[in-house]
Amino acid sequence: MYQRPRRNRKSAAIRGMVEENHIEIAHLIYPLFIAEQANEKSEIASMPGIFRWGTEKVLTEIEECVQLGIKNFVLFPVVPEKYKTKRGDYSYDDQNFYLKVATEIKKRFPEISLMSDVALDPYSIDGHDGIVENGIILNDETLPILSQMSLAQAQAGFDIIGPSDMMDGRIRAIREMLDDHKYDQTSIMAYSAKYASAFYGPFRDALDSAPKSGDKKTYQMNPANKEEAILEGILDIEEGADFLMVKPALSYLDVIHTLNDNFIQPITAYNVSGEYAMIKAASEKGWLDYNSTMVETLLSMRRAGANAILTYHAKDFAKLKKG
Ligand code: PBG
Repeated sequence: MYQRPRRNRKSAAIRGMVEENHIEIAHLIYPLFIAEQANEKSEIASMPGIFRWGTEKVLTEIEECVQLGIKNFVLFPVVPEKYKTKRGDYSYDDQNFYLKVATEIKKRFPEISLMSDVALDPYSIDGHDGIVENGIILNDETLPILSQMSLAQAQAGFDIIGPSDMMDGRIRAIREMLDDHKYDQTSIMAYSAKYASAFYGPFRDALDSAPKSGDKKTYQMNPANKEEAILEGILDIEEGADFLMVKPALSYLDVIHTLNDNFIQPITAYNVSGEYAMIKAASEKGWLDYNSTMVETLLSMRRAGANAILTYHAKDFAKLKKG
């Protein structure tokens, strides 16, 4: 035998020398759920270790994460029922606690990057990402609201706007609104290939944002499709996106790979709530080892071609890495 691949695996030193992919804390984006009550800290039942943070409490949590080396955060609002309307007007209200906390966070931690979520579902009585009329999710009528929400977020200090709604044409509408108001340095991370997935269940529990009727299949992508992800990517880039996202991650590693092959712009993998819940649940039962399973799954996303990874594991990973 002239070739014995095992020779390159014979010690940790040699394995390290030939290792092709790495995960750094710098690649990770940590999601935080924001609640209105300043001192709230309530654990999400289906996501052990993940909490809804009050607007005051979240500041100490971010401080702790920053100490661990985490530099990128995305915020999701837990909107009380009383603020929900058909058109989600609270999303750009100047009293909105989510916008106010973003301003406070950026004031306290100017060095971190802060990403937003743009979609109607947390603010809408219908729980859909767009305006609902007679059971139909209206596309073009939703765009002005998404742009207004994005502008309010840019004004609040968010560095990256994250449209997760999957309406057609929203990246252009948002980019034009931001540029018209001189926010040309505010980035857009487009949820480009966002699938109609069963893996969002725990997130919808966290936010109480599940659709009141119907499903999201008329706007989120069919899990059976890959080529369509390229079309979504082309449109998002043409319309002004800075990053393309694939969501979920684990069942869509091929899509991450395809987008990375086809686009120059960075790809983000969204390692979603259900993927986190599976590993947590199995490890709580003693059926899987948490740390090694976490690292292996994050590595698979990097190997597939993800630059950044949005993941609920970020803090656990940072702790592991720090030892
Ligand atoms: C809302 C939104 C969802 C997630 C992120 N933004 C849920 C959905 O589309 O129903 C899911 C994230 C996760 O499961 O971790 N537009």
